[in-house]
Amino acid sequence: MSAGPVLEIRDLHCVYGRKIRALKGVSLEIGRGEIVALIGNNGAGKTTLLKTVAGQLKPERGQVLFEGRSMVGRASFEIVRQGIALVPEGRRIFPRLSVVENLEMGAYWRRGADLSREMAHVFELFPVLGKRRAQLGGTLSGGEQQMLAIGRAMMAAPRLLMLDEPSMGLAPIVVDRVFEIIERINREGVTVFLVEQNARRALSLAARAYVLETGLICGCGAACDLMADSSVQKAYLGL
Ligand SMILES: Nc1ncnc2c1ncn2[C@@H]1O[C@H](COP(=O)(O)OP(=O)(O)OP(=O)(O)O)[C@@H](O)[C@H]1O
Ligand SMILES: [Mg+2]
Repeated sequence: MSAGPVLEIRDLHCVYGRKIRALKGVSLEIGRGEIVALIGNNGAGKTTLLKTVAGQLKPERGQVLFEGRSMVGRASFEIVRQGIALVPEGRRIFPRLSVVENLEMGAYWRRGADLSREMAHVFELFPVLGKRRAQLGGTLSGGEQQMLAIGRAMMAAPRLLMLDEPSMGLAPIVVDRVFEIIERINREGVTVFLVEQNARRALSLAARAYVLETGLICGCGAACDLMADSSVQKAYLGL
């Protein structure tokens, strides 16, 4: 294991088609054990960044290093196997699969292997999923579906957990619950990269954050400093 950052993104460029330049040279670093947030408005490029790290999109140029090893060009399942798991925007659970089957999909390349330890850990993090293990994913509440999406990512026993807008569409009290669990997962040693439009929530959980605006990082620093910054307050905190 390298002593450097867990995740290092260098000068990442992404285009959709020929014209839509979603990322225009993004660089950032996440250290071991950190919770780092990425905040930005609609269309800033947050999801594009996470999908690129996860191997679901191919960058035009730039580097993604995980524990010092390049991830660019690797298949997404290979990146999960290396230790990076993504909780996608909109949760993307499988509505017609049961809770247990959804969880198994988080480690699908280990099909047939004994996943009972990972599953027991997920049920410890989310007791409600244990109670509903046979229920179809599509019949869970929004909060439960978010928990299932996080649980599915945890089945891969990641060292870096990336979450794309986990608070989206959830009642404040449910967001509290989800964020408590993210914090607990982090305390257990997992590095967290949290993408949120809900800047207030993200900056209260993270120690450090980056601000993304139309494909470029336009700010970074300690979360408390960003929270006190008047331009951040105006653009992202509605003050
Ligand atoms: N599949 C796609 N094809 C073409 N353009 C896309 C595609 N996905 C995203 N874009 C464009 O790329 C830019 C960045 O989009 P992205 O989804 O990464 O933003 P985001 O920060 O995640 O936004 P949101 O907060 O709404 O989720 C936007 O201009 C968007 O319209
Ligand atoms: Mg998005």
